[in-house]
Amino acid sequence: MIIEPVVKGVVARSAHPYGCQQAIRNQINYVSSAEPIVGGPKKVLVLGASSGFGLASRIALAFGGSNADTIGVSFERGPSEKGVGTAGWYNNIFFREEAEKQGLVGKNFVGDAFSTSMRQQVIDYIKVEFGGKLDLVVYSLATGVRPDPETGEMWRSSIKTIGESVTGPTINIETDTMEPMIIDTATEEEIEATKKVMGGEDWESWIDILSEAGVLADGCKTVAYSYIGPEATYPIYHKGTLGRAKTHLHATGDLLNDKLARIGGEAYVSVCKALVTKASVFIPAFSPYILALFKVMQDKGVHEGCIEQMQRLYSQRLYGPHQHVPVDEKRLIRIDDWELDDDVQRQVSQLMAQITPENFTTVGDYQRYKTDFMQLNGFWLDGVDYQERVNLEALKALTP
Ligand code: NAI
Ligand code: NA
Repeated sequence: MIIEPVVKGVVARSAHPYGCQQAIRNQINYVSSAEPIVGGPKKVLVLGASSGFGLASRIALAFGGSNADTIGVSFERGPSEKGVGTAGWYNNIFFREEAEKQGLVGKNFVGDAFSTSMRQQVIDYIKVEFGGKLDLVVYSLATGVRPDPETGEMWRSSIKTIGESVTGPTINIETDTMEPMIIDTATEEEIEATKKVMGGEDWESWIDILSEAGVLADGCKTVAYSYIGPEATYPIYHKGTLGRAKTHLHATGDLLNDKLARIGGEAYVSVCKALVTKASVFIPAFSPYILALFKVMQDKGVHEGCIEQMQRLYSQRLYGPHQHVPVDEKRLIRIDDWELDDDVQRQVSQLMAQITPENFTTVGDYQRYKTDFMQLNGFWLDGVDYQERVNLEALKALTP
């Protein structure tokens, strides 16, 4: 079969396996020649390893100078009668293959990271086959739902404002159009549920359980990812439901840092740059900002994707030249520093004021935005022959 891109709204309904393989190789090539991670970890668990920041973390830690063995946990779907499967499914497979070529472990667990059974499988594997200890745990899950561990009932996150509703344009990638959208205010229940899904509770639970199992090495670090952004986007993000959840995550970082002190460990939250990922395209009214940001950062030569961000995080902040991890006054790592640079933000506000549904494809960097989205799903990559027939049976034989 020939695999065509299928996009519904902002969701990709198909993925190209060999495009995903190419994207993995491109990221490996980038970190192989970038400033290396010195003094980095050797045994790493990545929760949310199959795409976005989690995948980029895994690639940076394995191929960017640290030569880490990694365990990746993700929720993905393989090929079936319904289709070829998700991009993350193939990212897992091709990451593992590349890692093994270098003599590194790239173990994949595919299933629900929120479940007790996943925690147990990972712990058993660490004890029996992974050398017994971890020296870094990366928490990079992004999802809309989390089951209550007590009742099994689902918490669902909402992307809403708190206080006043906001109207702002949103991009439809399927139709290449920009449509006005009203973002409603959240109820108390919605705020609470979003905090349950995207806050720090599950991160804390993972670290507690790993710690009780005795699989955290002395000096073990853990990191989770956050976003803050400029004031102009506060109503839709930082001061909305997602921001509330992130504030909870930040507090969890401090809590875990205290808990890990017992073994000489540390916990951090890294505030990252706004990027196109499977998760971020859902944030309403956010796309004009990303379009303007990409354009300005591209023009200034400071644009980064997930892989550049993660290589910089691990080589310049969490490990590397500094005696102590550099943080701001709230103890957050700021790898969003180039995004929030005064001159960048001044130019971004000017550009955002000019963006309209009629001109957004040319005034902002829509080309980059859409290309990033397509490439997340293995499309639009150089060096891939999209006319070549893909053998579904051969793909079914590949295992995570
Ligand atoms: P993503 O959608 O690319 O990756 C999410 C990962 O979580 C995938 O590996 C997915 O399989 C996994 N996952 C989701 N539900 C799961 C479950 N139940 N069990 C196991 N695995 C599951 O998301 P992205 O954007 O990389 O987000 C990661 C973190 O980075 C989030 O905390 C997000 O808020 C943060 N972040 C994202 C920014 C952006 O612009 N995309 C900016 C700053 C922070
Ligand atoms: Na991720």
